[in-house]
Amino acid sequence: MGFVFAIAEPGSEGAVKDDVAHTRPALRLAFSRPGLVTFKIDGEVPDDVPRPTPWARVWGASLGRAASAAETLAVLPAEARRLHVLAREPDAEGAGALVAEVDAALRAGDATRFADGVVAQHGELVADVIVAPDEAWMLGVHRHGPGRSPWPRGAIPVEVPADAPSRAYAKIEEAIAWAGLPVAAGQVAVEIGSAPGGAAYALVRRGVTVWGVDPGAMAPAVMAFTGPGGARVHHLVETLASVRWEMLPRAVDWLLVDVNLAPPVAIHGLARLVPAWKKKKLRGAVLTLKMNDVAMRRGLPTWLERVKSLGFADVEVTHLPSNRHELCVVARP
Ligand SMILES: C[S@@+](CC[C@H](N)C(=O)[O-])C[C@H]1O[C@@H](n2cnc3c(N)ncnc32)[C@H](O)[C@@H]1O
Repeated sequence: MGFVFAIAEPGSEGAVKDDVAHTRPALRLAFSRPGLVTFKIDGEVPDDVPRPTPWARVWGASLGRAASAAETLAVLPAEARRLHVLAREPDAEGAGALVAEVDAALRAGDATRFADGVVAQHGELVADVIVAPDEAWMLGVHRHGPGRSPWPRGAIPVEVPADAPSRAYAKIEEAIAWAGLPVAAGQVAVEIGSAPGGAAYALVRRGVTVWGVDPGAMAPAVMAFTGPGGARVHHLVETLASVRWEMLPRAVDWLLVDVNLAPPVAIHGLARLVPAWKKKKLRGAVLTLKMNDVAMRRGLPTWLERVKSLGFADVEVTHLPSNRHELCVVARP
């Protein structure tokens, strides 16, 4: 028997447990605290164990608890040279200082053991040391690879400019980094649910011309901004249901959807727009799916199938650091 750990946004444990219970019967709940859930599994856990749920930001083989640096160094496999010390609850008081303290103690405990820096390289075995005040440390390992962030706790560092009008700036930048999307100057994006314009601002700053569709108001500064190559943001005061494809560019590189609509409604609305762009080499779509209740969460496999049926062969889903009760779907032809 082995154990799998999953690190998630504190408050998302319910989603983690419910999703695993409904989609991964081989994983049986072992332990749950804010930000961390572990599962029992028959047999040994491979270090590249599949992601238990899209709500997990870091996952791997759990190696149990340790109370000191010496104990930790004795338990961690020697191959795990990339050290990630992470807080179970990053917003808890003292969490940042504790992470720094434990990281320093482990590196001092064996000066040659760990590689410098925290950014994991593909294929590397990462040692995860999960800490919380007044708790023994939880140890685990995972192998870094596609679909994972190389940073501790699944972080994706984004610098959000002070004048960005919404946190959607961080969401789209995180999605681009996570999926490695080739977003480049001169491209065109359509965003359904674009107001007030955080994501549009991120894209236009990259030189992408954005057509926003939203009945709500866009931030004037975003509308006035000119990006590299003369890229601008255009706003159609329409809804997903009312916008006609003749109002939008014929060739579109990226489709973004970030509407306050239930996933089946949003995906149904897209079915009218996507086919024409698909023929013109749409590069991909970034969809924020609102997971506001259990029924919407449990429907995820169905929503992903429906996204595929729009003509996207490659559909991936994750819970980005800036996502709350929503998941990010990246779909590519
Ligand atoms: C989370 S906000 C979008 C944030 C935006 N992506 C940004 O970058 O700032 C959701 C938006 O969806 C819009 N919305 C709700 N229903 C819509 C619909 N049927 N069609 C288009 N937009 C809709 C709302 O007006 C709201 O501005």
